[in-house]
Amino acid sequence: MDLNLLITDCQQRINTVLKTYLDSSKPYSDNNADRLIEAMSYSALDAGKRLRPLLVYSCGEAFGAKLDDLDAAAAAVECIHVYSLIHDDLPAMDDDDLRRGKPTCHIRFDEATAILAGDALQTLAFDILINHPLSDKAEASRLAMLKELSTASGSKGMGGGQMLDLLATNQNLQLDDLITMHRMKTGALIKASIVMGLLSAGINDIKIIQSMTTFGELIGLAFQVKDDILDIEGDTEIIGKPSGSDAAANKSTFPALMGLDSAKIYAEELITEALQALTPLAYNTDQLEKLATYIIERQH
Ligand code: IPE
Ligand code: IPE
Ligand code: MG
Ligand code: MG
Ligand code: MG
Repeated sequence: MDLNLLITDCQQRINTVLKTYLDSSKPYSDNNADRLIEAMSYSALDAGKRLRPLLVYSCGEAFGAKLDDLDAAAAAVECIHVYSLIHDDLPAMDDDDLRRGKPTCHIRFDEATAILAGDALQTLAFDILINHPLSDKAEASRLAMLKELSTASGSKGMGGGQMLDLLATNQNLQLDDLITMHRMKTGALIKASIVMGLLSAGINDIKIIQSMTTFGELIGLAFQVKDDILDIEGDTEIIGKPSGSDAAANKSTFPALMGLDSAKIYAEELITEALQALTPLAYNTDQLEKLATYIIERQH
């Protein structure tokens, strides 16, 4: 399928799933608490690329999962991602005022509401993954999916990586430390999207899991390297967030450490290596290959 069509399909599907869950999260009687759902919906139901859901669907479908089963992991990982973006933009973190082409959650609402919206999206992710109806094949992997998502989100994954990011501000990191930070803050959720796609398909062959984990880790790291590149080269209008934000905050990034050209070459090498991890697999991984290439070719 054409990549743009794939992306549009995924955006529509995930928006419908997320909207259903957000609408049903409304409190029963207290209208004041509607503000929280409004803030969560403001950030979750918008123009995100939905790359993580797309990876869940594409990986799951490549290995024979049902689309209805994949909705659980796709929605859950996007909720964690949106929460991470809301908190990432807060004044205490990156202090950015534009996200996905519109004012960030704390600008549109207020800081306290943005903090709570992030918190509640995080718990909504696990609520969905615990309660979404699954076929018997996927049901057998529900606990493994919860383990994957919780590890990828917490101190060993995204949360820990964000801490490293803050500590690395105004510092000169060694390459190894920068790689660790990027793997954790961004790579972990991307790898988890791949693994949850596999789990939803009931795959438990260790060789397949290893190859796909390698693929997920490599594209995850490449994704953040490209994000760092776009922060320099991207157009604010197109990326939907302020370009130049990393340099202004003196962040540790790949282009800052190795220069823009070397960072581009590095991202390409990571994707080449990721594609190699797919070659021994006797499954149709065409869509995943396209997505891997899109990660470094994208303009936003
Ligand atoms: C931005 O992620 C934050 C990172 C982890 C690099 P995306 O580039 O996937 O953002 P959206 O979801 O499309 O807005
Ligand atoms: C964020 O990295 C990673 C997250 C876990 C949200 P960035 O701070 O570079 O993400 P953007 O550029 O603001 O989207
Ligand atoms: Mg950040
Ligand atoms: Mg940021
Ligand atoms: Mg960035």
